[in-house]
Amino acid sequence: MKINPSNLSPTDAHHLLVSVVLPRPIAWVSTVDRHGIFNLAPFSAFCIVSVEPAMVGFSVGTRRDGQKKDTLGNIETTKEFVINVVEESLAKAMNITSAPYPSDVSEMEEAGLTPVKADLVKAPLLAESPINMECRLKQVLKFGETATTDSFIIGELLLIHVRDELYANGEVQVSKLKVIGRLGGNMYCRIQDMFEMKRLTTE
Ligand SMILES: Cc1cc2nc3c(=O)[nH]c(=O)nc-3n(C[C@H](O)[C@H](O)[C@H](O)COP(=O)(O)O)c2cc1C
Repeated sequence: MKINPSNLSPTDAHHLLVSVVLPRPIAWVSTVDRHGIFNLAPFSAFCIVSVEPAMVGFSVGTRRDGQKKDTLGNIETTKEFVINVVEESLAKAMNITSAPYPSDVSEMEEAGLTPVKADLVKAPLLAESPINMECRLKQVLKFGETATTDSFIIGELLLIHVRDELYANGEVQVSKLKVIGRLGGNMYCRIQDMFEMKRLTTE
């Protein structure tokens, strides 16, 4: 089977892409709006963009009704955000925060989650999350000419908070993290079934 995504409807192209790029890490992004209301939503089109300077990026689509998602609007306004890591115990809460709440409703409150003051940005850290990354907006790249435009948000990592018990010998103890990833459709995965393979060369 050979599929050209440009021949598909936006919905079908989306379903195809999320079924071939996987597993995807989930950026659980907290922001604050101009009135001080906290916003939280998950985005699995998420990756490392650069190491020096340390930058990450994630892609935000457009709502079905053509409206801008609050996360994008808040980041364009404040130029700041926090990416929180999602553990399995937080999966249900993460799913609640993906619902399209009006912008004056805080998904954190709806999901019973706890905002904590960040060191360098106004967006809050999520207390329940084992890792939080404070980011400053570097660039927003816009793609597409239609109502379904995607915006790729690139942020510089200012400060990374790692729960103390997860950090030893200068490393995050990945095997202790119960992070989940996103697959196609409504499926998720765990990373408990890991294997090691050493690189053949050092770079
Ligand atoms: C696991 C998961 C991953 C998601 N990934 C994305 C994504 O990469 N891009 C996107 O635009 N929406 C994604 N969504 C949907 C957004 O979370 C959803 O549109 C949310 O309502 C946006 O909230 P906001 O308006 O507060 O920004 C995802 C939802 C879930 C549950």
